[in-house]
Amino acid sequence: MPKTSKILITFILAFIFMATVVWIAMAQQTQKSAAILKPGTLAEIHKAKEITCKQCHGDSLKVDDNEKVVNQPCIKCHGTLEEVAKKDKGHINAHKSHLGEISCTVCHYGHTASKVYCLKCHGFDMQIPGSNTDKKERQAKIKKDEAKDKTDVVVIGAGAAGFTAAITAHDAGAKVILLEKQPITGGNSMLAAGGMNAANTKIQAKKGVKDSAELMFNDTMKGGKNTNNPELVKILAERSAESIDWLISIGADMNDLGRLAGASVERSHRPTGGAVVGAHLINVLRKNASDRNIDVRVNSNVLQILRDQKGRVTGVQVEGKHRGIYIIEAKAVIVASGGFSANATMVESYRPEFKGMTTSNQPGATGDGIKLGETIGAQVIDMKDIQIHPTIAAGSKILITEAVRGNGAILVNKDGKRFVNELTTRDAASAAILKQRDKVAYLIFDENIRKSLKQIEGYIHLELVKEGQTLKELASAVGMPADNLEATIEAYNKAFDTKNDEEFKRPNMPRPIRTPKFYAIAVQPGIHYTMGGLKIDGLTRVIGKDGKPIEGLFAAGEVTGGVHGANRLGGNSISETITFGRIAGTNAARYAVKDNK
Ligand code: FUM
Repeated sequence: MPKTSKILITFILAFIFMATVVWIAMAQQTQKSAAILKPGTLAEIHKAKEITCKQCHGDSLKVDDNEKVVNQPCIKCHGTLEEVAKKDKGHINAHKSHLGEISCTVCHYGHTASKVYCLKCHGFDMQIPGSNTDKKERQAKIKKDEAKDKTDVVVIGAGAAGFTAAITAHDAGAKVILLEKQPITGGNSMLAAGGMNAANTKIQAKKGVKDSAELMFNDTMKGGKNTNNPELVKILAERSAESIDWLISIGADMNDLGRLAGASVERSHRPTGGAVVGAHLINVLRKNASDRNIDVRVNSNVLQILRDQKGRVTGVQVEGKHRGIYIIEAKAVIVASGGFSANATMVESYRPEFKGMTTSNQPGATGDGIKLGETIGAQVIDMKDIQIHPTIAAGSKILITEAVRGNGAILVNKDGKRFVNELTTRDAASAAILKQRDKVAYLIFDENIRKSLKQIEGYIHLELVKEGQTLKELASAVGMPADNLEATIEAYNKAFDTKNDEEFKRPNMPRPIRTPKFYAIAVQPGIHYTMGGLKIDGLTRVIGKDGKPIEGLFAAGEVTGGVHGANRLGGNSISETITFGRIAGTNAARYAVKDNK
């Protein structure tokens, strides 16, 4: 065969080969695109508008666990959260909610059915674009990533305790990574409504409230049925004023004072006007972490706490939503991942009688930190001490803050009659409601009480509040005997005037119920807080089963046990997260940076 023919044939064969390879690659790409362009998903909706993958994902098409890059184009095209909130005409405006600055992709997913994150807690009807697609989720491909990151301190859980510990450890000179398994930071702290207890503060002094660390200690011990660890309660009370000062120094507004159940005086600190404390504090803490460039990673679930042969903590194994499994080497680990109220199986295993009860907690409160600690030999204490909160909005997971009662609301049953001192401890108030018909009660208040507490506007926005121009109208709106309700309110107002609640011995009646309109919220008890958890000492070191601290392991917040004993007082949770978060941050940094060179 002539040489030219041979070259020609080789050329044709090579061409056919190349064409086949390109064709197969294109076919695979088409198949892959089809797989990730499920009907009805946002990816498909965007594709139909000729928006390319790179316009959302950037040139590398890679997605990091914080999903920062994929969120920028959403904001560029649709506007910021505030801008979208202004356009949102839904009856409940989720964009205007208390969640603060969160990513669009927390609710709006690209390749699977979108889901409104807040609906995991709140039960109202809401649809968002791309939410009604094929229910079968695309299986996340977990890549085994051998990569190792390195830091001084890892903090597990980005609620108030975790953020506080991370900021404090950073300010003490440590390099910190803060990990959160949920797609947003904030944890349960973001939902904290009542306030932050602190004794002997400058704010109390300005308002003429006489308080002392000793009185806060006594109230807390009494509330906890004297089963609390007194060493921890002493720290909580004695360092609480300093914690308020610290929060103010980093930008928090703690100017309003209220009184929550079980407290002898007004010591619950909250933002001006009685606004929600948790959402405010989390925004302040988020900003402080961001200003310090602290490495905060959401969608990052800790699988294991790692230790060396001597039992010293050496880091954690993490599963990032997009990155897969990897290791962070660290000299110290702080567990601040909260309690287990949202883990129905765990709750039932300790308290079978609570089976099927609703909870006020966010869905991530599943006790992971307790299990991580137990796996490496940590002691757990008080696990049966699970708190029921008396006022969760009936049929929902929305907590109606104790501050509504603190500011003057009363509780009546379906017959329109009072049945308890509204400011008694949570366990007693819950038990009293559970004895009423249908295990339901109503919070009753008037226009003055509504005006005294900004949070009530939130409940009205969520359509949880019934109203009437008169008590008669209100009684008819909720279906209770008007005569009874009128008689109850008359008796209560008399008790207010004479400063003597003879029948129920309510210790504090800040306002009468006289000014129209009148309001009612149906409430029932639900799981609110788990007092038990990892055993710690006064330096927040986690104690092992041998009674000695596990080297390099610290814990703070609801994941620990001992501070609250058998029953936590309202306002002591945020107080605990800030005070013990600061102690954990300081000691973990000291251990990692100075003691462990
Ligand atoms: O009722 C509440 O506002 C709850 C407060 C708390 O649990 O500390």
